[in-house]
Order: sequence, then structure tokens, then C-alpha cells
Amino acid sequence: MASETGRVVIVSGGAGGVGLAITRRFADGGDQVFVVERHEAHGNIAPHLNEQISFIPADVTDEASVSTTLDDLQTQTGRIDVLVNVVGGYMAGQPVHELPVATWDAMMQLNLRTAFLMAKHAARLMIPRDWGRIINFSARAARDTAANAGAYAVSKAGVLALTEVQAKELLPFHITVNAVLPSIVDTPANRQAMPDADFARWPKADEIAQVVQFLASDAAKLISGAGIPVYGQW
Ligand SMILES: NC(=O)c1ccc[n+]([C@@H]2O[C@H](COP(=O)([O-])OP(=O)(O)OC[C@H]3O[C@@H](n4cnc5c(N)ncnc54)[C@H](OP(=O)(O)O)[C@@H]3O)[C@@H](O)[C@H]2O)c1
Repeated sequence: MASETGRVVIVSGGAGGVGLAITRRFADGGDQVFVVERHEAHGNIAPHLNEQISFIPADVTDEASVSTTLDDLQTQTGRIDVLVNVVGGYMAGQPVHELPVATWDAMMQLNLRTAFLMAKHAARLMIPRDWGRIINFSARAARDTAANAGAYAVSKAGVLALTEVQAKELLPFHITVNAVLPSIVDTPANRQAMPDADFARWPKADEIAQVVQFLASDAAKLISGAGIPVYGQW
């Protein structure tokens, strides 16, 4: 069992709208947080960047890059305790009968391939230590599908299935695998996209981060394979 502080926590997409709140929450709790982002520009997450937070530039759709990044981290720290797979995104607008293959492929890459590659290589390194926590980002759309958002829904449903399968595979190693399912989160990007919405009804990024932090805690050791709705009042 890892102690509840000083753990090595990887947050893919940890500088984004929801990811930054997760990064800050784990760092404030005394963990060492490694933020993995594909664009160096996201390394400028000051003033939140402190000695608890390190930035690793890597494209998590690329298996060689993921494998090397996590192996290097393991060498540097000796362990990977928690993986939070936040990388993901949304594309919609066409019914399936008009959906470009490029949109389909882009959603599978961004949402499903990223979660798969990070979870694959993190689990490989967690298994010998017989402990770990993996938390994936699915979405409400995985269960409550909407017309004209097929590629997104299928990719996030894939994340949920991946979570359930890997939870079963990793049960003997005391590694839990769970997913959170946000609906709409109060992020700067969502406020910009929906300026007339009632922002008060949207969960704050830090409220999502609290759920993620709980799933990473020892108190959540009995929970694995869950898809947890974090819709708030929306
Ligand atoms: N926000 C919501 O309302 C909402 C609702 C339901 C589900 N979700 C899910 O929650 C998660 C977080 O959402 P968010 O709003 O925080 O998204 P976000 O602000 O776009 O954050 C995602 C981060 O991941 C980075 N990223 C994208 N592709 C990458 C790659 N291949 N390698 C490394 N980094 C990459 C992005 O950087 P770039 O700038 O380089 O793209 C960005 O910093 C996503 O999985 C999303 O699908 C969000």
C-alpha cells in the first residue's frame, strides 16, 4: 500500500481545463505530480508550477513516446503510484451517415488510444509493485448518447469498457481502475463555447478533482471497474 502522500502521480492532460485542478489537488496533498502534455507551451502552467509539479512533454497517442516517458519516470522515481488519464476531447456535428472517417479516427485517437496506451504501460510498471491506481476520463455521453455525436460517444464508451476489462485483469495486483463520467464541467473553454449557459449549474473542475483524488486514496480500495457519474445538477 502506498502512503496517502508523497506518491508519484501522472496526470496526462494535467494542464488542461479539468487536468490543472487535478494536478493542483494532488500537489497540494503532498504528492509528486508529473504532468504529461504534447505541447511545450503547456509547461508554462505557472503560477501553479512548484517543486511538487514537473512537466513532461510527450504525445500520448504515440506508443514509443508513452513507453519511454513512463520507463524514464520509473527510473527517476522508482515507482508510479497513480495514473490519471485526462487527455481527451470533443468533436460532433454530423449524424453517423455523414460522419467523416477523419472525425471518427480523431475521436478514437484522442479519447481511446491515449487512455489505452497510458494504462497499458503504467500497469506494466505498477504490477511488480503490487499496487496502483488508474483513473480514466469517460463521459456522460458514453451512457446517455446524443444524436450527431457518435464518434465521441463510442470513444468514451470504449474508455468505459477498457476500464472494466483492465479492472478485472489487475485485481490480483491491488491495482484499481475506475472512470469518471463528466457531463459539462465549468472550464474556460465551455464558458466561451456556451456564454449564455447557467455556469452555476456546472460542476467546478476542482469538484471533479476531489472525486479523482478519492478514487486514488486507500479509502477507495474496494472500488474497481466503476464508471462514476459526476454530472452535478446539469
Ligand atoms: N470539459 C468538459 O465539460 C468535459 C465533459 C465530459 C468529458 N470531459 C473529458 O474530461 C477530460 C478533460 O477535459 P478538459 O475540458 O479538461 O479538456 P482540455 O482542456 O482540452 O484538456 C486536455 C489536455 O490534454 C492535452 N492533450 C490533447 N491531446 C494530447 C496528446 N495526444 N498528448 C498529450 N496531451 C494531449 C491538451 O492539450 P492541447 O492543447 O495540446 O490539445 C489539453 O491540455 C477529457 O477527457 C474530456 O473528454 C470533459
